Amino acid sequence: MQTYKIAVIAGDGIGPEVISEGKKVLEGIAGLDGGFRAEFTDFPWGCEYYLKTGRMMEENGLEKLKNFDAIYLGAVGYPGVPDNVSLGGLLLEIRRGFDEYVNLRPVKLLKGAPCPLKDVRQEDIDMIVVRENSEGEYANVGARLFPGTHQEMALQTGVFSRKGCERVIRYAYELAKREHKTLTSISKGNALGYSMVFWDQIFKEVGEEYPDVETSSLLVDAASMFFVKDPGRFQVVVTSNLFGDILTDLGAAIAGGMGLAAGANLNPERTFPSMFEPIHGSAPDIAGKGLANPLAAIWSIGQMLDFFGHEDWGRRVIDAIETLLVEKKTLTPDLGGRAKTSDIGDAILEILRR
Ligand code: NAD
Ligand code: IPM
Ligand code: MN
Repeated sequence: MQTYKIAVIAGDGIGPEVISEGKKVLEGIAGLDGGFRAEFTDFPWGCEYYLKTGRMMEENGLEKLKNFDAIYLGAVGYPGVPDNVSLGGLLLEIRRGFDEYVNLRPVKLLKGAPCPLKDVRQEDIDMIVVRENSEGEYANVGARLFPGTHQEMALQTGVFSRKGCERVIRYAYELAKREHKTLTSISKGNALGYSMVFWDQIFKEVGEEYPDVETSSLLVDAASMFFVKDPGRFQVVVTSNLFGDILTDLGAAIAGGMGLAAGANLNPERTFPSMFEPIHGSAPDIAGKGLANPLAAIWSIGQMLDFFGHEDWGRRVIDAIETLLVEKKTLTPDLGGRAKTSDIGDAILEILRR
């Protein structure tokens, strides 16, 4: 039987709380004759590790992770360590180091999930955001010049390479084609005359290979407005790293909240392991209290199962989350319930066993 070797970086704040529920669910599915085994290896990396060692992960961290089938990550960042240090030394290092250039983030309003929008039908919020995840505004290029003088300045350079844009845009076209969905590119060519004009050009060029995919291009400001006013117009969305970051928190807000937003950092060529995580952070305001909603972390286990080729189980995980939301018996406080984080994995498994 296939054994999946999974590196677990539970990380900071609510990370360990939500990750332990996801592990429970994956182990439970394996035990339910999922047709595979899961073998977890825990890495104690994160902000506490940094305070002890001066590093967010071991020096040869990527080397240690390289041969796993997948990485399962909780959250990174905690007061006491500057965010750019903690994220730059772990999460972003893994995304870039393993060339996880596609960040797949479903924005799907499940039945029973709360939605703050009025006059929107549940089935109208059902999109998948393909976020560029390796370069763009997040390219680690820049400088701080003349510190402490009047001329002090910070430069932060965006990097939009032809290869980097083409591959993520092509991934999105392929997805739209396979699923018979429309594709929307979101950019900002009216103000960012180099990077985003280039992005728009590449979106058109690659599109010539996909005459059957219906497309549109939106500016990010208008797109944000439409996420709220008319989310039904979006099916597959492709966008840059920073825009994808911001739009998917907005997406989370309209589709049940941060506790329900999952993300997969994919290296589609499978040269390196891909990484699965909830998109939320370490939530220091609720950490350690059993208040965190682990459904996003559990949904990302569903994405991991899809990536391993067990789409049937990926589907069943989402269905189980939906059943939990509809039944409303075992929900965390963000969804109006009184259950603890540690109740949720068991409740999902109970539904899966029915
Ligand atoms: P956050 O996502 O941690 O929290 C934003 C709000 O959402 C908070 O009120 C929090 O309580 C709530 N929330 C988040 N996840 C929740 C869950 N599962 N259940 C219930 N409520 C939840 O964002 P932030 O406060 O801006 O960031 C906190 C730290 O996390 C920072 O250090 C930041 O850099 C880091 N961060 C890390 C990641 C990551 O590791 N992937 C992502 C985002 C932010
Ligand atoms: C996310 C997070 C990260 C990002 C941060 C923590 C660097 O917000 O995964 O959405 O901006 O990509
Ligand atoms: Mn984010």
